[in-house]
Amino acid sequence: MLCKPPLKCLKIVIMANLLTMFFVMEMIIVSGLSFGASGLNMNYYLLSCPFVEPVVKNTVNRALQDDPTLAAGLVRMHFHDCFIEGCDGSVLIDSTKDNTAEKDSPANLSLRGYEVIDDIKEELENQCPGVVSCADIVAMAARDAVFFAGGPVYDIPKGRKDGTRSKIEDTINLPAPFFNASELIKMFGQRGFSARDMVALSGAHTLGVARCSSFKHRLTQVDPTLDSEFAKTLSKTCSAGDTAEQPFDSTRNDFDNEYFNDLVSNNGVLTSDQTLYNSPQTRNIVNAYAMNQALFFLDFQQAMVKMSMLDVKEGFKGEVRKNCHKIN
Ligand code: HEM
Repeated sequence: MLCKPPLKCLKIVIMANLLTMFFVMEMIIVSGLSFGASGLNMNYYLLSCPFVEPVVKNTVNRALQDDPTLAAGLVRMHFHDCFIEGCDGSVLIDSTKDNTAEKDSPANLSLRGYEVIDDIKEELENQCPGVVSCADIVAMAARDAVFFAGGPVYDIPKGRKDGTRSKIEDTINLPAPFFNASELIKMFGQRGFSARDMVALSGAHTLGVARCSSFKHRLTQVDPTLDSEFAKTLSKTCSAGDTAEQPFDSTRNDFDNEYFNDLVSNNGVLTSDQTLYNSPQTRNIVNAYAMNQALFFLDFQQAMVKMSMLDVKEGFKGEVRKNCHKIN
């Protein structure tokens, strides 16, 4: 060190230490202030795993550059995680000989993107073992996937713990594709979401596809809410079998408001999509999002933050899984 005499040197070292302490304390206080009612925290990993955000973002970006269709998979995975047992990574747990897990339910068989979560977890376990929960990784990956696809940027508080229960029978609480608006409003309402939140969240169907098995019931009866030309498109898709894929809108990898424009012209794929336009309870919201993409983005990001905090487990109510596929 270039300071003389030694006493002056000592003073500088003490000052430097004090400044560092002050900085760290301030960070802790600032983090503390951002504690929500839930106890989650925007800066949860600031000291314990400082590079968590860039690791998640870079891994998601790399995966989506290779396969942009995975953005849809990651967003849907987050929804299916949060709606069953709260956002606790329960959707990632593998079945064992004694337990059939959520992921093996018919409603989850077409979930995609598990390998992206695994890659993120592996990198984070190398950097800071046993610190970042699988539940937080799923929530952050969905957020970064939305942004990658051109959707709104939003931040979420972290600190979710991983759950230890994952049972196939719990997935009965996922909404079905044949639900009408009243049933959707009721199911989302039971989890604290307004009808407007529910319509905004359904806008996630701006990404991805549905398989024929999810909408073929619409083709066997006369459905006045289905445009006749679009019915032919859906029938053509289904001629390739139950697993044939129908994009929800014409821009399946772009996060935009095309989905809502399609609903206005009776081109919704699922009954649960089209009902949002045909029901007087939600029609105005669909019209508003179809006319104003910025409004959809604003409502969507707010609803996603809310969803990401659904029934989260904190502190000793959960664990940080070492391997996202199994409980510790
Ligand atoms: C409102 C009630 C909802 C129902 C009934 C519903 C139902 C479905 C169904 C049946 C599929 C197609 C599955 C298949 O055929 O393989 C699907 C796909 C999808 N859902 Fe939903 N969903 C709902 C809400 C949501 C929400 C809230 C989100 C996210 C915030 C979401 C995100 C997605 C995405 C991104 C896909 C495409 C997945 C892919 O391409 O891999 N859904 N949904």
